[in-house]
Amino acid sequence: MKEALKHTLEGQGKRLRSALVLWCCELLSGKVNHDARIAAAAIEMVHTYSLVHDDLPAMDDDDFRRGQLTCHKRFDEPTAILTGDALLTLAFEILAKQIAEPRIAVRLIGQLAEAAGPAGMIAGQMADMKAENEKGTEQLLQIIHTNKTAKMFSCACRMGAIAAEAGEEQIEQMGTYGLKIGLSFQIADDILDVCGSSEQLGKTAGKDAAADKCTYPAVIGLEKSRQLESKLADEAIAALEPFGPKADTLRQLAAALLKRTK
Ligand code: IPE
Ligand code: IPE
Ligand code: MG
Ligand code: MG
Ligand code: MG
Repeated sequence: MKEALKHTLEGQGKRLRSALVLWCCELLSGKVNHDARIAAAAIEMVHTYSLVHDDLPAMDDDDFRRGQLTCHKRFDEPTAILTGDALLTLAFEILAKQIAEPRIAVRLIGQLAEAAGPAGMIAGQMADMKAENEKGTEQLLQIIHTNKTAKMFSCACRMGAIAAEAGEEQIEQMGTYGLKIGLSFQIADDILDVCGSSEQLGKTAGKDAAADKCTYPAVIGLEKSRQLESKLADEAIAALEPFGPKADTLRQLAAALLKRTK
């Protein structure tokens, strides 16, 4: 189990959700603190678990992830299922045990559970599976992508704000920024599946079309997908208005993600 956990966590992921926790905490309190570091590790573990399960044969059936064999290919399916379970559980263990102030721990746990659970990522993954081989609509896509991906981005930003002990309004504003870049990010993921190479991506390209997935390029075409991706990045940047120049890192991130190749 230890070997499988190490294999999975040490792959070349972008660590974007954890970086967002740290940047949002820094924006709102002037520094990265211990609670933000724990929250960053926790959300990265939940995200990594979601990938291990997403790659299983019963789901997207993928052989490569983060430039290496997927967990079930490198080890076996039972190990991959349990590695995912272990990462998910461990995330909540570190939040419960390593955040000193119970009030903050409970809020962080609540946010992460809500974003990753049946009203968030699980709902999105379920809808994604159900939509295979179906003619999708833009409305359905928005539901799938918001749930499976954007809510975790929003959660990362909110967790950073909570670790910074920010007020409710600022937590909401961070959450809006996260939701917008999250949706933009998943559209880019769909576009890269069409236009990117497996080598660049560290995962097999062209899988969405092969599995007849409901994606933005499939439903509205590449050109319109790019326009929407960019519009959402603008909306994310607009949500940062109240924070002034201090939020430049987050502005640059929203713009840089439009150019990502992996
Ligand atoms: C992949 O996420 C799954 C999606 C939500 C698109 P990332 O592209 O952030 O994966 P890693 O963490 O960098 O491997
Ligand atoms: C996965 O979306 C979203 C998750 C919640 C894991 P995808 O299935 O498009 O992610 P990739 O392309 O396999 O990374
Ligand atoms: Mg999937
Ligand atoms: Mg997948
Ligand atoms: Mg994808």
